Amino acid sequence: QQDCYILAVETSCDETSVAVVKNGTEVLSNLIASQIETHKAFGGVVPEVASRKHVENITIMLEEAIEQADIAPEKLSAIAVTEGPGLVGALLVGIMAAKSLAFALDKPLIGTHHIAGHIYANRLEGEFRYPALALVVSGGHTELVLMEREGSFKLLGRTRDDAVGEAYDKVARALGFPYPGGPHVDKLAMESRTCEDMPRAWLEPDSYDFSFSGLKSAVLNAVNQHRMKGEEGYEAGIARGFQESVIEVVVEKAVRAVKACGAVQLLLCGGVAANRGLRQALTERCEKEQIPLTIPPHRYCTDNAAMIGAAAYLKYKQGSYSGLELKAEASMSL
Ligand code: KG4
Ligand code: ZN
Repeated sequence: QQDCYILAVETSCDETSVAVVKNGTEVLSNLIASQIETHKAFGGVVPEVASRKHVENITIMLEEAIEQADIAPEKLSAIAVTEGPGLVGALLVGIMAAKSLAFALDKPLIGTHHIAGHIYANRLEGEFRYPALALVVSGGHTELVLMEREGSFKLLGRTRDDAVGEAYDKVARALGFPYPGGPHVDKLAMESRTCEDMPRAWLEPDSYDFSFSGLKSAVLNAVNQHRMKGEEGYEAGIARGFQESVIEVVVEKAVRAVKACGAVQLLLCGGVAANRGLRQALTERCEKEQIPLTIPPHRYCTDNAAMIGAAAYLKYKQGSYSGLELKAEASMSL
């Protein structure tokens, strides 16, 4: 069987990324241009600015990714691109670039789901065993997804309000950190010797859904109270309390879902999978429960094109290609 080389493009939010992935598992190149410095000034991602930055970056990154992979463009097997969910203008830049390349090289085009990509970041670490359960925690998503067999995705639960990463970023902002604040809150929480009590949103006993807006409000209230009293040095205790609440709920629901579905593997993914506290807590809990757990290395947790190339390989094997009429889908189910 011939080797498969997929060139993958990801531009759904504030990272421009292009990768070449061999046979769905071997990353030959994975370039990521982060726009964080640009968006920092605004305290979050500005969609219009993101699109313009993608336009500036994409062409040179396509060339560079192919060069780093050391492959002749004609030898590429397919061009994959994130079609959604994400910022529509941002997605469009990647889609137009991928379409142009697919058309010029006469290669199949493969539209790929961003969350499937996050889940398949784990495929770069080894084989999947089914049924597998994915815990997706990112800036835009918080979901529990059951994969009963290859290519099947069943949404068991999702956030009803803020995504975990979004809550991290808002809490970080209240504590005075720049965007994206997740890593700052993580560090502060891990170093803190105090822990302020924060609520846990369990929702209905049988629900796999999440909610973080109440917790976020509790944090903002606590910050205001401390400020009004003129207190100082309360930030670490709040960060710790917030992080412990998030971790306890997320870990508990994931483990409960694994048991209920008879899953034989748990896959952690998404930007918040970079969280040290969460990685540690989930690892310990899974050891105790004897649940095989996979967590991608940091560089494949946050948005990147290698994960899109890994997810697209599945569609490539099935011959499930997209036409040149492929559209950007701001909200798109798995
Ligand atoms: O997956 P991602 O790169 O983008 C989306 O698809 O949303 O996730 C970005 C999110 C941001 O909200 C960021 O604050 C969060 O991941 N994040 C973290 C950590 N590193 C990144 N949150 C908590 N702890 C971290 N160490
Ligand atoms: Zn993402």
